[in-house]
Amino acid sequence: MADPQETLAARVQSALGAALGAEFADTDPVIRPSQFADYQANAALALAKRLGRAPRDVAADVVAQLDVDDLCREVEISGPGFINLTLRDDWIAARTQDLLGDPRAGVPRQHPQTIPLDYSAPNVAKEMHVGHLRTTVVGDALARTLEALGHDVVRQNHIGDWGTPFGMLIEHLLEAGEDSAEAGLLQTDPNAFYQAARTKFDDSAEFAARARKRVVELQAGDAETLRLWRELVDFSTVYFNKVYGRLDVTLTDSDLAGESTYNPMLPAVCEELERKGIAEISEGALCVFLDGFTGREDKPIPLIVRKSDGGYGYATTDLATVRYRVEQLAADRIVYVVGAPQALHFKMVWETARKAGWLPDDVETVHVQIGNVLGTDGKILRTRSGRSIRLMELLDEAVERAAKVVGDNRPDLDDSTRAAIAREVGIGAVKYADLSVSHDTEYVFDFDRMLALNGNTGPYLQYAAARIRSIFRKGGIAPEDATGPVAITEPAERDLALALLGFGPAVATVGATLEPHRLCGYLFDLAQAFTAFFEHCPVLQADDPAVRESRFALIAATLQTLVTGLGLLGVRAPEQM
Ligand code: ARG
Repeated sequence: MADPQETLAARVQSALGAALGAEFADTDPVIRPSQFADYQANAALALAKRLGRAPRDVAADVVAQLDVDDLCREVEISGPGFINLTLRDDWIAARTQDLLGDPRAGVPRQHPQTIPLDYSAPNVAKEMHVGHLRTTVVGDALARTLEALGHDVVRQNHIGDWGTPFGMLIEHLLEAGEDSAEAGLLQTDPNAFYQAARTKFDDSAEFAARARKRVVELQAGDAETLRLWRELVDFSTVYFNKVYGRLDVTLTDSDLAGESTYNPMLPAVCEELERKGIAEISEGALCVFLDGFTGREDKPIPLIVRKSDGGYGYATTDLATVRYRVEQLAADRIVYVVGAPQALHFKMVWETARKAGWLPDDVETVHVQIGNVLGTDGKILRTRSGRSIRLMELLDEAVERAAKVVGDNRPDLDDSTRAAIAREVGIGAVKYADLSVSHDTEYVFDFDRMLALNGNTGPYLQYAAARIRSIFRKGGIAPEDATGPVAITEPAERDLALALLGFGPAVATVGATLEPHRLCGYLFDLAQAFTAFFEHCPVLQADDPAVRESRFALIAATLQTLVTGLGLLGVRAPEQM
């Protein structure tokens, strides 16, 4: 086991059993990082209270039973009864050595779950906005991380590809011509197409009437209407894929499972809810009223599953979706990476599904709530003219700005190498900025800050990795060939090695909490430990060949951890910077 905290926990736990009796054999030993040692075990304090004994005596009994000679160089009782634990340098070195030969870089393999992961989910014929940027980037990092932990992730891109706007969109497509430049906008600037359709709809009663008729034909399954609808969806998919390609996310067409997928299942959803007495007719609409969901003046909030005109909505679709994910995808845990304002919607949908028996108790549903992206003025991010920002423009600007940074730093490189680095740095910076703050808080989109080469930024971590690669280039050896042996003498070596051992646990934490910013925080700490190490411990200049071998091994493990960790976040690590 490479995780010191877990290893210590197991040892202290068996000492608790041996010292205090079998009924304490599975007590949590409460191992925490310590200011005075590497870790401390805090369990004795609470146990002493239960036993009516002095905490220091309890701690002493536990220590007497503690078998950690191979693991700790010092065990000490401190303060009111903490057990301070200081690891042996040779144990840390040996575990670091293990990491070098581990293709999983210390990432544990968990009991595999099937996890439908709902993320990105932009809307057809509309611009992907910065909110979708964030659901896409956070969702993709979670997909990669959960897969690395051994889970079976089923990506579900729940695109908005159905509903009344398609009447006006289809009519506009027909008027403009399917091969027209206007139709081409769907692949480059979908909002412009949408707005043009909207304007016609608002300005012309005749167009609006045609659009409404089209919606009816669409719902009735008219073949020609469906063909035109399909074309709109396909055009939009081209656009989504451009953004995904640029962003370097793992979504493909086979992950598309848009709202329309569930159309055939909607009548049965309503019928069953009604039959089971879960839904009732209220003012002509079929509604579910759930205990505890009330709005102003205690008025119950309905979940509308069939409108009074007979149409189905977003909630009906999501009910069918839950059912599908449980029954067809065999979900153990369903994760939704969606904007925070939809929290109430999901709560109501899940509770309804539980009542209907479509969502068993042992299937967990989680809403990873995504907060707003703000401009530097603290308001929702918009262009100066007030329209919402086009994602592609934003990404282009990130790459342009990164190109300037790279151009300034590396005039020695040729243009195409510089351009490739700028792409990885620019896109990496945007993605990392999204990931490094907790997903449910608002964050300010600020190019200067995200592209800075210091602080908790993508470029800082990329630079740390590139620096290690350059040390290897100068040393004339490949990172794969730096196999140690690792030996630890300097405090900075010890700190770096101990930081490396934290990678697996950090990844496991992201799997449990679904909070990628924790991995960012870990990688940032690791990069700082590397920087401190590099200041104090020369690698190429180390006189003693054994010390040089050991330090090469330490930085090889650091490189592997940084690259693997950035990879889980979906951020590339350029060869040089
Ligand atoms: N298309 C929706 C939006 O843009 C997000 C869909 C999220 N997923 C879901 N199953 N409702 O807000």
